[in-house]
Amino acid sequence: MKNFISAADVTNIDSLVSSALAYKADPLKDKSLGANKRVGMLFLNPSMRTRLSTQIAAQNLGAEPIIFNVDKEGWALEFEEEAIMSGNTVEHVKDAAPVMGNYFDILCIRTFPSLKNKEDDYSELCINQFIKYSGIPVVSLESATLHPLQSLTDIITITEKFKEKRKPKIVLTWAPHVKALPQCVANSFSQWVNAWGKADFVITHPEDYELDPQFTKGGTITHDQDAALKDADFVYVKNWSTYEDYGKIYNNDPEWMLTNEKLLLTNNAKVMHCLPVRRNVELSDEILDGPSSIVTQEASNRVWAAQAVLAEILRGKERK
Ligand code: CP
Repeated sequence: MKNFISAADVTNIDSLVSSALAYKADPLKDKSLGANKRVGMLFLNPSMRTRLSTQIAAQNLGAEPIIFNVDKEGWALEFEEEAIMSGNTVEHVKDAAPVMGNYFDILCIRTFPSLKNKEDDYSELCINQFIKYSGIPVVSLESATLHPLQSLTDIITITEKFKEKRKPKIVLTWAPHVKALPQCVANSFSQWVNAWGKADFVITHPEDYELDPQFTKGGTITHDQDAALKDADFVYVKNWSTYEDYGKIYNNDPEWMLTNEKLLLTNNAKVMHCLPVRRNVELSDEILDGPSSIVTQEASNRVWAAQAVLAEILRGKERK
């Protein structure tokens, strides 16, 4: 694995899941793999789980994580080629990224979409420019359109919880929210579940919330949430803003919030959410505080996903 940006960077998802679960069983089994290696962690946006779990993962491998809050502490970066930098940006990524490439062995980056310009966001300019100019492996800590460490974690958690011989039914359901949120988590979850190929996958959302088909292709899409929930083994709850008429909130119907009554339609489903979650807007207290919720286990598994990915990249560097 050279970079970790999407499911397409992974040749065998099950093997990465097994590696993550092996680290969960024995976190320090490769405590020297990252000796004398530095992992740069650049944040252009806030984060709690991604920041802490990736830091712990690097430390478990004996590597030194160095966090740089670019949004608060760094120079404002320019990403456009041939930009005339007479505005607010102070340093071009073309100048900054090679320096980071010399400071670090792996570069991890967290950025969000603008939600204003679909073409810009979906071109993944920021992370692609770091790949182009840093010269070292780049790991996405969430990009404009995808959140691969979250999705790997989600597959790890489903693998841990589901022990039956048949395929699980996994439902991704849209949920209401007060703000326009990125499509990253929903795109990424869809991409990974489809690439994994070991589930019956259904996506449900109100009309006008269709996601980019490049990620959902392979899943069944319906606007009927009750029909989607029938016999589900896992319900993944997430809000996203509109993709077609980009970055809007069209419908915020509170009826789409998952409740215990709706869960009765499922096969005693486990409920997942990437967190942070707005309680009683996106997901009800009764679900989050009840026995169906596995959100804490899910978020805790972020460490093992990050550790498996960093380890695979470090092993690749060892072989060179
Ligand atoms: N799920 C997730 O990415 O959480 P943070 O935004 O806190 O990192």
